Amino acid sequence: MTFLKQTELVNLVAQLSLEEKIGQLQQLTGNFYTEEEAEITGPMTEVGLTEKSVYEAGSVLGLSGAKATMEAQSKYLSKNRLQIPLLFMADIVHGYRTIFPIPLGLASSWNPELVKKTAQVAAVESAVSGLHVTFSPMVDLVRDPRWGRVMESTGEDPYLNQLYAKAFVEGYQGDLANDPLTIAACVKHFAAYGAPEGGREYNTVNMSDRQLRESYLPAYQAALEAGCKLVMTAFNTVDGIPATANRYLNRDILRKEFGFKGVLISDWAATKEVVAHGVAANEKEAAALSLEAGVDIEMMAFCYQHFLKELVAEGKIATDLIDEAVLRILELKNDLGLFENPYRGANEEQEAALVFSKEHQEIALQAARESIVLLENKQNVLPLQKQEKVAFVGPFVEYHDLLGNWSWKGNPSETETIKEVASKRKESIEFVATSGIWELTDEELTAAHKAAEKTDKIILFLGETADMSGEASSRTNIQLPTAQLTLLRELKVHGKPIVVVTFNGRPLDLTEVAELSDGLVEAWFPGTKGAQAVTEILFGETAPTGRLTMSFPRNVGQIPVYYNHFNTGRPIDANDADNKYVSKYLDVSNEPLYPFGYGLSYDKVSYQDLVIQEETIGLDGKISASVTLQNNSNQPVTETVQWYVRDIVGEVVRPMKELKGFETCVVPAGESKLVTWEISVEELAYIHVNLEKKADAGEFVVMVGSNSSEVLAKTITVKN
Ligand code: BGC
Repeated sequence: MTFLKQTELVNLVAQLSLEEKIGQLQQLTGNFYTEEEAEITGPMTEVGLTEKSVYEAGSVLGLSGAKATMEAQSKYLSKNRLQIPLLFMADIVHGYRTIFPIPLGLASSWNPELVKKTAQVAAVESAVSGLHVTFSPMVDLVRDPRWGRVMESTGEDPYLNQLYAKAFVEGYQGDLANDPLTIAACVKHFAAYGAPEGGREYNTVNMSDRQLRESYLPAYQAALEAGCKLVMTAFNTVDGIPATANRYLNRDILRKEFGFKGVLISDWAATKEVVAHGVAANEKEAAALSLEAGVDIEMMAFCYQHFLKELVAEGKIATDLIDEAVLRILELKNDLGLFENPYRGANEEQEAALVFSKEHQEIALQAARESIVLLENKQNVLPLQKQEKVAFVGPFVEYHDLLGNWSWKGNPSETETIKEVASKRKESIEFVATSGIWELTDEELTAAHKAAEKTDKIILFLGETADMSGEASSRTNIQLPTAQLTLLRELKVHGKPIVVVTFNGRPLDLTEVAELSDGLVEAWFPGTKGAQAVTEILFGETAPTGRLTMSFPRNVGQIPVYYNHFNTGRPIDANDADNKYVSKYLDVSNEPLYPFGYGLSYDKVSYQDLVIQEETIGLDGKISASVTLQNNSNQPVTETVQWYVRDIVGEVVRPMKELKGFETCVVPAGESKLVTWEISVEELAYIHVNLEKKADAGEFVVMVGSNSSEVLAKTITVKN
């Protein structure tokens, strides 16, 4: 592609009238460009727009399809004075039409390469359908499963979140300048949107600068280091200032410290919401605050549109600030090659050939397989054996919507159900599809009992509907709906092994389910090929390999519960278990039900002989460690070896464990395997009191294991 030179872009900005410049900062929804003029007159006047301003707006959200976007672009260009092309953006979060597992599921693969591949597929499908930008990845670190948007996150660990942030961005953007089958990424939500008080959506975020930098900012930064073109602000306040109007976050940290040169877009109407937050008296003040804080594009609010001109006339806003924002938007258009070809990747033929192609579905199948986590497998109830009679029961047996939230173009009707997949098999399976997620009829219960009587094992397919997680879907009760628990409790009377498969978008409180069931499979919302992946795992054609990236609490009262917590001044002492005056609950253990990194497979390896090569090293040295994995089973085992470190004494308190590396390897049947690991002391750096990031001398515990709770440990010394 050929591009405009920087001087040409600067000249272009100079040719724009103030109205046209303000137009570039406006993002509108697709209906303004697709519906007949008469139909949008209403919405237009409602928000105080004129036809002229619609054809000066710089970008669109939520319109896709090669034909629709090309028509909209061509009509727009015919009416736009300087033919500056529109940008088409949308939320492509875990696939376009080929839907992958939700990000929390994808993260459970511990496979950034796979995640990158899914993002590449999403980019190809989006690009041929006319999109230029996706509002993804969401890299907000999460510790509270009440918050519905944990489904969009990759979990509670800063290190893993960084790897995934990079993988998503590289997957979407590829060779953005030369390959039209790529899209620009927009990392969100800057910053710390994943930490709302009480897990309640859009709620206050209170966080120290140190904590922000230590745990929350690294993933955004990793996305930027991978070349991410856009950043989206967050709805929440951070330390009393709404993120969208937060100069410290957006100018000092994002632009100055991180050196971000791309486009900062507000979240939906977040500019206007600073009025409700209470830092601006009206939309005019909101416009000034947001622009001063560095927000370039205003998504579906009209503070800039209505008030920037006035603010400039009154001398309250310098045109330089506007020019700077416009230039960044034009640079993005130029980076995407839109001045050369405003239609970029949009192509109806390619759209027909590539969207939801067999190859893409294969990748969705692989991603679904790797995202599923086996949580319980008492007496090796799984995998199911060919000769066994099984009953498949529950609301998810004949349920098409295995896609989960944020799967805009995903089509549940082209997603096979568990029954459709499993009934193609030779095994003897009886299906009792109950109808409701929330209710269960007496007839359904009777049918379930009848099937249970005749069968060897009962497999229950339970879960949440897609809209129970995602945006604006916070919950204080994170158990399965009562009707589904009733089904499980009732079927227990048969005394037969029960396996529960759950489809859901957040860590649930599965305490009772775990007690009542023999096998427990976390399937998340597994996407387009989810039913097949789940069925393969149940019957053992695929061994489960997924590992949690977010702790599962024992109950809501334990939240937030996460592995990389502090010790406290009064930690529990195993040798003094009756001591009341320690940091604990009276009614429940401190440990989560399932910890970070946890997940079973059908066979197990044991960890032996953690060896540290040099137990005393210098600050500029490296820790070299090895461990032996022993597989005594007669099957190869895929194991994700997790390396954790604890810095025992720091200038500020350090977490009990921090993931610092991992490796997935296959240990052949009956064999052992030596796994080595190396990390420089520099990588153990942390944020000090003065916000400087550096590593200290002292003692460190190096740990390795199959999850964050079961580890072998050795102490080493780092000398100055
Ligand atoms: C969400 C964003 C999303 C935007 C556009 C907002 O409500 O918070 O994550 O990108 O809508 O759909």
